[in-house]
Amino acid sequence: MADLQWYPGHMTKARRMMEENISLVDLVIELTDARAPLSSRNPDIDTLSRGKARMLLLNKADLADPAQTERFCAYFEKQGIQCVPLDARNRRMNDQIRRRVQEACREKLERNKRRGILNRPLRAMVVGIPNVGKSTFINSFAGKASAKTGNKPGVTRGKQWIRLNKELELLDTPGILWPKFDDPEIGIRLALIMAIREEILNEQELAVYLLGFLKDYYPGVLGERYGTAEKPFDTDASDQELLTQIAQNKQLIAKGQTPDLTRACRMLLEDFRTGRLGRITLEQPELDQMEDAVNEET
Ligand code: G4P
Repeated sequence: MADLQWYPGHMTKARRMMEENISLVDLVIELTDARAPLSSRNPDIDTLSRGKARMLLLNKADLADPAQTERFCAYFEKQGIQCVPLDARNRRMNDQIRRRVQEACREKLERNKRRGILNRPLRAMVVGIPNVGKSTFINSFAGKASAKTGNKPGVTRGKQWIRLNKELELLDTPGILWPKFDDPEIGIRLALIMAIREEILNEQELAVYLLGFLKDYYPGVLGERYGTAEKPFDTDASDQELLTQIAQNKQLIAKGQTPDLTRACRMLLEDFRTGRLGRITLEQPELDQMEDAVNEET
């Protein structure tokens, strides 16, 4: 396994900038990937956002298992974080997010009111690991407002605030968090969802991990995608045999008429990433905390 403890040089700079920016806002809007909501967060965000209102968007929910997304939302809400599943490419959830922003900042708004501060918009910033959808979200959430700011020539210095309405302003540059790879499985999940450069891990290692995971948690999907009426997919086979079946059933043939296992790995990864295998979530909320939450409710 490749060493995943790399830290890009500009990480410290990005972190410092984020600390500085967080001090300017009332609310931190964090994005995670709904297919791996725990691995795609940086736990430092809890310390970085201390004292700020919080909101968590489970992005790419269109690719994640809806039942798991619902469980994750309950899990995060239990921790006092407003949580909304999202496909950031779509504007459908904008109204709901705006309402949830007001809810998340209720204490602040009430304090302002008591002090006679009216008409001061809330300020928010978006944070998340690379590729989680921060820019996509800012563009669709801010809509025309962001286009206007972006098109103004010569105003690149200083902080740019996108005014969404008289109640909310958004910092136009998102904060970039680096994921933590304390556990090698976190690195694998991040490579599967393309949050880290995949060259760090080899495709075969990733594909074999994914096969094992699918066999345990989504046993039907392999047969549906790679089995045929004449050749049903046999999930009890070894890793090598599973890849061979994918290659044979999808006519991925290498030189010498042998099954092309490299292309089989690539196809499996691509099928997962594009949702062709169905909506799949790679991890579950930490069960002990989840059970505590359920026990408290009953
Ligand atoms: P970042 O700023 O956090 O680095 O991420 P960015 O918005 O650039 O999004 C990374 C990729 O994820 C983009 O795809 C984007 O379209 C896609 N994406 C963002 N949100 C969602 C979502 O909710 N669902 C799905 N399925 N995809 C999402 P790309 O292939 O890199 O670019 P493009 O083909 O869209 O141009």
